[in-house]
Amino acid sequence: MIGCAKPSVALIGPGRLGQAVTALLRQQGYPITAIVGRDRQRTAEAARFIGAELMATTDINRCAPADIILIATTDDQLATTAAQLCDTVPLGDSTLLVHCSGLHPAQVLKHSADMPQHVLAMHPLQTFASGEQGMKSLAGCFFSLEGDSQAVEQGQQLVSDLGGESFIIEGQYKARYHAAACMASNFITTLIDSAGEVLRPCNPQQDIPLSVLGPLIRTAVENSLTLGPKTALTGPIVRGDDGTVASHLEQLKRHHPDLVALYQQLGLQTVDLAQRSNRLSAAKGEKISNILSQSDDERDSD
Ligand SMILES: NC(=O)c1ccc[n+]([C@@H]2O[C@H](COP(=O)([O-])OP(=O)(O)OC[C@H]3O[C@@H](n4cnc5c(N)ncnc54)[C@H](OP(=O)(O)O)[C@@H]3O)[C@@H](O)[C@H]2O)c1
Repeated sequence: MIGCAKPSVALIGPGRLGQAVTALLRQQGYPITAIVGRDRQRTAEAARFIGAELMATTDINRCAPADIILIATTDDQLATTAAQLCDTVPLGDSTLLVHCSGLHPAQVLKHSADMPQHVLAMHPLQTFASGEQGMKSLAGCFFSLEGDSQAVEQGQQLVSDLGGESFIIEGQYKARYHAAACMASNFITTLIDSAGEVLRPCNPQQDIPLSVLGPLIRTAVENSLTLGPKTALTGPIVRGDDGTVASHLEQLKRHHPDLVALYQQLGLQTVDLAQRSNRLSAAKGEKISNILSQSDDERDSD
């Protein structure tokens, strides 16, 4: 496509991801022909952010001439939005319909088996808290692509123009793939929140802020990715310090009983990782696992 005019793009669902991707495509020379939302004011604001103010509309028919239609509504709205599009808008046969859901296969956009348009699932392994942050975070991120070969080929060009890298995935694996993505993103966020809850009241004079965990979290993540989890793992479990683990559990039970099960489950998974790294003996691993597996009643009777 280098040297050729870029295909035109219409966006349905100008939320966090839709704004980031469409704004970046516009910067890369893709003509934006429509920004379709449900609420006039929110859609106008999104179109302004994208740099296509005049393209804001609540009329889905404005998508008709676009070469590529990006449907970035919530996951639950994808099928109904695609059905509405195919039922009411005179689409060209070569129009590409794209969604960015991590869960759904491209097929969710196939309103009928004989519709001629190609469909593509193009999912960025990235988190978009806002259009602005998303735009900055797209460069260098990995996208999974799923769809027929022509759709995937177009997806590879889109991803390359967005500054990302792509890999292909089959539709049947998407739910498992998306579980991994949520564990790596949402669950890390939840874990940081939980660690902050435990840390905050550790100074009775003044709350300890979450930010003091920043360097520790960043180094742990960076080491896990560069050295691999087996080498990156440190701490009482891999050292075999069973007394430390017992003290943690005792304190959590007293002050944060809602977090005991989380600590126990992650602790057991950490014992497994430590043993796979050949740095925790079977005997120590069993002792720590027993401490972590004790129920409340068993701990109370100790
Ligand atoms: N955010 C992320 O980190 C992320 C990461 C990877 C993939 N994704 C995927 O990206 C897609 C969008 O997610 P998001 O986080 O950007 O969601 P979002 O911020 O909630 O945006 C959804 C947008 O769709 C609009 N919308 C909903 N139904 C519509 C309809 N029927 N017609 C027109 N517009 C409609 C919403 O408008 P209103 O303002 O009227 O509600 C909103 O602007 C999802 O498929 C998601 O799985 C998101």
